[in-house]
Amino acid sequence: MTPPLLPDALNDPVRVGVVGLGYWGPNLIRNLNDLEASELRWICDLDQKRLDTFGRRYPTVRATQEFEDLLADPELDAVAIATPVSTHHPLALAALDAGKHVFLEKPLAASVAEAQELAEVAEDRGLVLMPGHTFLYSPPVNMIRDLIRSGELGDIYFISMSRVNLGLHQSDVSVAWDLGPHDFSILRYWLEDTPSYVSALSRSCVFPTIPDVAFINLEYDGGAIAHVELSWLAPSKLRRTTIVGSSKMIVYDDVSNEPVRIFDSGVMLGAPQSFGEFHLSYRTGDIVSPAMRPAEPLRLEMADFCNAVRTGETPRSSAQLGVEVVRMIEAVDSSLVSAGSRVQVVEEGALAA
Ligand SMILES: NC(=O)c1ccc[n+]([C@@H]2O[C@H](COP(=O)([O-])OP(=O)(O)OC[C@H]3O[C@@H](n4cnc5c(N)ncnc54)[C@H](O)[C@@H]3O)[C@@H](O)[C@H]2O)c1
Repeated sequence: MTPPLLPDALNDPVRVGVVGLGYWGPNLIRNLNDLEASELRWICDLDQKRLDTFGRRYPTVRATQEFEDLLADPELDAVAIATPVSTHHPLALAALDAGKHVFLEKPLAASVAEAQELAEVAEDRGLVLMPGHTFLYSPPVNMIRDLIRSGELGDIYFISMSRVNLGLHQSDVSVAWDLGPHDFSILRYWLEDTPSYVSALSRSCVFPTIPDVAFINLEYDGGAIAHVELSWLAPSKLRRTTIVGSSKMIVYDDVSNEPVRIFDSGVMLGAPQSFGEFHLSYRTGDIVSPAMRPAEPLRLEMADFCNAVRTGETPRSSAQLGVEVVRMIEAVDSSLVSAGSRVQVVEEGALAA
């Protein structure tokens, strides 16, 4: 794939405009402004007050309420979009149509059909479309992926994930669409697969129509199962994942200063010595907490986006991974409308009960 808007030389910075200066967009601005590989050219928001605030902070960057101003700038290589989910598809499609590479915050779009269309348009035009799955750049997540791939954990029996805290309640999407992309992208990255079956239970505790707690079960063809608990209603912040393999187990706690602990623990089933008799031997060995080099995942993510634009290489957070994440969330919604039934996740985005 050769992007038509490859910057003049590989070493030229990628000229980017950031759209959406709400809660998350300022983090994109800070990193794109800091990186040598990028040049922040535009900031854009419908809200003039947000523009004024960030215009003062970045006085050399052009500010506009009109997204079209970015698309009309022939020197702009790419846009980074951090607006509400319902706007992702129209904004990204317009940017791709204008020949701009697109970084698009998670989730890629509000449906599989929309996400797939964006991925196809980007592919056809030889442009980068990268979803913002920040955890794919987190050092603990990558350490665990390496451990899984090396076989050190053995067969993955199950994974249990909790992502709960008090807030931030969203007014336009459920907790599965807001927090789910984090865990679903991590699972996809670790297991390199999309689950075959999903079932989910949720409740709208605060707003009557917006689920703010969800318990989600995922089943993979290889035998692994996963449970994901998501909530904006919890007394304390938990970002805790347990991975149980046939050889070793891991506890990944993203809010701890020892984020990855590897337990050399397990259980062996010995041969029965008489009919119906089982011998279990439990192993509780060393617990290792590997040193982790600190790195801001978002900075690595932005650097990967710039690299993809410059070289045409597929970013780690690929459009295809983004489509699969949306497929998982759609499966959750499908289960929820059928009272938590177990739904099959099928390729075309259609779901069979
Ligand atoms: N990667 C992460 O860890 C992470 C964390 C938080 C949010 N996000 C994602 O970032 C995106 C934005 O979330 P947020 O919490 O910052 O939302 P937000 O509501 O705080 O901010 C959205 C901003 O977009 C602006 N906006 C809306 N439509 C626009 C348009 N057409 N043109 C220009 N500006 C427009 C709004 O005025 C607002 O300032 C979402 O996709 C969310 O899922 C990602």
